[in-house]
Amino acid sequence: MKSPIRVAITGAAGQIGYALLFRIASGQMFGPEQPVILHMIEVPVEKAMQGLSGVAMELDDCAFPLLAGMVQTSDPRVGFKDVNWALLVGAKPRGPGMERADLLKDNGKIFIEQGKVIDAVAAHDCRVAVVGNPANTNAMIAASQFRRLKPENVSAMVRLDQNRAVTQLAKKANVATASVSDLFIFGNHSPTMFSAFHLAKINGKPVPEVIGHHEWLRGEFQETVGKRGAAIIAARGASSAASAANALVDHVRDMVTPGRVHSIAVKSNGLYGFDPDVWAGVPVRTTTPGSYEVIKDLPLDDFAKQKIAVTNKELTDERATVLPML
Ligand code: NAD
Ligand code: LMR
Repeated sequence: MKSPIRVAITGAAGQIGYALLFRIASGQMFGPEQPVILHMIEVPVEKAMQGLSGVAMELDDCAFPLLAGMVQTSDPRVGFKDVNWALLVGAKPRGPGMERADLLKDNGKIFIEQGKVIDAVAAHDCRVAVVGNPANTNAMIAASQFRRLKPENVSAMVRLDQNRAVTQLAKKANVATASVSDLFIFGNHSPTMFSAFHLAKINGKPVPEVIGHHEWLRGEFQETVGKRGAAIIAARGASSAASAANALVDHVRDMVTPGRVHSIAVKSNGLYGFDPDVWAGVPVRTTTPGSYEVIKDLPLDDFAKQKIAVTNKELTDERATVLPML
């Protein structure tokens, strides 16, 4: 058995936290040979810490063989101490009628503080995955506080969008989701994201050839994926939680599995026409566990370029809004 890794989860007593912790402890995120010590971080409010203690009792009651320890804390310096992974989930969710960017002022502050503390106390190889919205810009904010760790160590999650897009394509073509490959998300985790159907395949054949229906691919498909979060809020009265936790399991598991190709949001460094300093969804290939290379030079037609310009503008606007805080 390997020695345990330390994994911090903020917002551990929240909705996503509850759907996530058990899957990490069962081995679905880091594999069946990798013990984990969970660092569960919440706000210093009695209700939250009491809720967290209940979640910890339930984790105990699962007798997971891979769960090598738990830390429950509201002190980020304790919570992020020596962690190898920091999963930043804890933040306000949006309600009906809001856009994710409306959360920026409130949630942005959280990521300034957490970026600083992670840089000060986490393990030297710490990888950070941001889920709290607006996730791309919060990742940029956290990385802006780094002096010791590299900004490339911070990713934001667009995997929920990738998974949503795969299912929509599979339904349209009446095939299993496993038949869909190479579906990448470019840009922001917001309605401006671009689900790059022109690169995707169904049973190895180009999606536009299999589905035909170009108007649907450019219109309704983009809109259904981009606005799925709002549709779930309207239906449930709360934002997606189990599917978000599932997407984070996929995001991290693919990041620790060399050779995997998937979409994550990372510092763009100017690739695909994005502003170099925004965190944009792009296709990546995992090189060594926790490290990736962006897959470069995939062809973009005029429609793709125009969609990327729109989502890039939103990311640069969000960045401009928070720059005075950094
Ligand atoms: P929730 O309100 O159920 O839980 C959030 C938890 O975070 C709460 O328990 C709260 O006490 C805690 N928290 C708040 N600030 C914290 C801090 N500074 N440190 C530690 N914990 C803190 O919300 P949720 O449904 O779990 O959603 C969490 C976030 O994830 C929201 O911002 C939501 O919009 C976002 N989200 C993102 C995606 C995505 O695909 N990127 C998908 C779903 C939800
Ligand atoms: C989602 O996409 O489901 C989440 O980002 C939650 C939201 O606010 O839409």
